Amino acid sequence: MPEFSPAFTWGVATSAYQIEGAAATDGRGPSIWDTFTHTAGTIIDGSTGDVACDHYHRYAEDVGIIAGLGLKAYRFSVSWSRVQPLGYGDWNEKGFEFYSNLLDKLEEHGIEAHLTLYHWDLPQGLQDLGGWLNRDTCLRFAEYAAEIARRFGHRLASIATHNEPWCTANLGYGNAQFAPGVADTALAIQVSHHLLLSHGLALQAMRAINCPAKLGIVLNQWPATPATDSAADIAQAEWEYARSVQWFMDPIFKGTYPQKALDRMDMSKFHVQAEDMAIIRQPLDFLGVNYYFRAFVSTETPPRQPEGKHGFSDMGWEVYPSGMTDLLLKLRAEYPALPPIYITENGMAVADKLEDGKVHDEQRIQYLQLHFQAMHDAIAAGVDVQAYFYWSLLDNFEWNSGYARRFGLVYLDYATQQRTLKDSAYWYRDFVSAQLQGK
Ligand code: NOJ
Repeated sequence: MPEFSPAFTWGVATSAYQIEGAAATDGRGPSIWDTFTHTAGTIIDGSTGDVACDHYHRYAEDVGIIAGLGLKAYRFSVSWSRVQPLGYGDWNEKGFEFYSNLLDKLEEHGIEAHLTLYHWDLPQGLQDLGGWLNRDTCLRFAEYAAEIARRFGHRLASIATHNEPWCTANLGYGNAQFAPGVADTALAIQVSHHLLLSHGLALQAMRAINCPAKLGIVLNQWPATPATDSAADIAQAEWEYARSVQWFMDPIFKGTYPQKALDRMDMSKFHVQAEDMAIIRQPLDFLGVNYYFRAFVSTETPPRQPEGKHGFSDMGWEVYPSGMTDLLLKLRAEYPALPPIYITENGMAVADKLEDGKVHDEQRIQYLQLHFQAMHDAIAAGVDVQAYFYWSLLDNFEWNSGYARRFGLVYLDYATQQRTLKDSAYWYRDFVSAQLQGK
């Protein structure tokens, strides 16, 4: 296996709605995901995050598992409506207490905390006022960011504003797969602008109070491979890359939207104010990249499919490790102001089975090996990657796939809430231990 610097950060990631449960406990307000999951026909197994992994009550056990794996970093998100039930107005001290207790536990075990402010669970109170289509939501987000930074900034290694704003905009507003369930691509474009604006305002607000944590954003990214070398496939792949990766990267690092994307998008509902682009273009301390697959772009009917040399995950996603290397090299070439990169997510859903108290998830171990090699290749070629977080610590609520897809290093028996370490968890533990000893 490749050798990484002993200073490299190895961790695991989760998000609030996917693991916490306790949806109405201790004053938490509803979020758009509570509303969405309680609407018939939205989630493939009809489930909700009401209980999920019951992490709200079992966080001490879960942090113990992270510690037992010898990991020194944990990425999690705050449920905004737990700390501010409506998304504006009163704060909920009980909610802050939960995250403070979680941080206590992490500190006890010497695990650094990487917090995400927004992992898709907008307070329903703000949705009732127009959600991310209402520009004022950006101002509320900046207030929330400043409050978290003021209370917890000194206890955190990093704060990311948004997780995968591409999904919030395109799945939440473009095709209705995610909350709040709107299908209007022109609105999705406006939402993406407001998400970027809110990111810029939040960074300004957290910098204004001298937040000591490193500040950044987490983007889901993929390289786009044309299926053939036809001019049509190549042009389509360039457009795909422009509308997904460059659409978020260019405003943040260049202060403009990519012309190639603007040329072919429905801009009829797009409103940008004069000062917005300068607000969005804030220096970042890190860029979080979530890498799962490449876009395989074909203009034929039916579209050509990738051969899948390393197989496909239980999500149907092609396992394509070299896409991680390609993507990172491309980012480095295109953005001179690129800060250090954290791989904030990478992981595989497998149809795991618990047998005699064990889960033999060979496929996931192979996935880890391949992606560590791919990440190492990027580092060797000069990309400054400093951290890796496996998605996810636990099997959890996989959004519109409910509990039917398992990404965890730890198997969840949802009937008993029993946690069982999979073979991949032990493999990751041993790998990280060897790396930390510089072997
Ligand atoms: C991206 C998201 O951030 C996370 O919430 C999700 O569970 C994983 N990818 C897997 O789909």
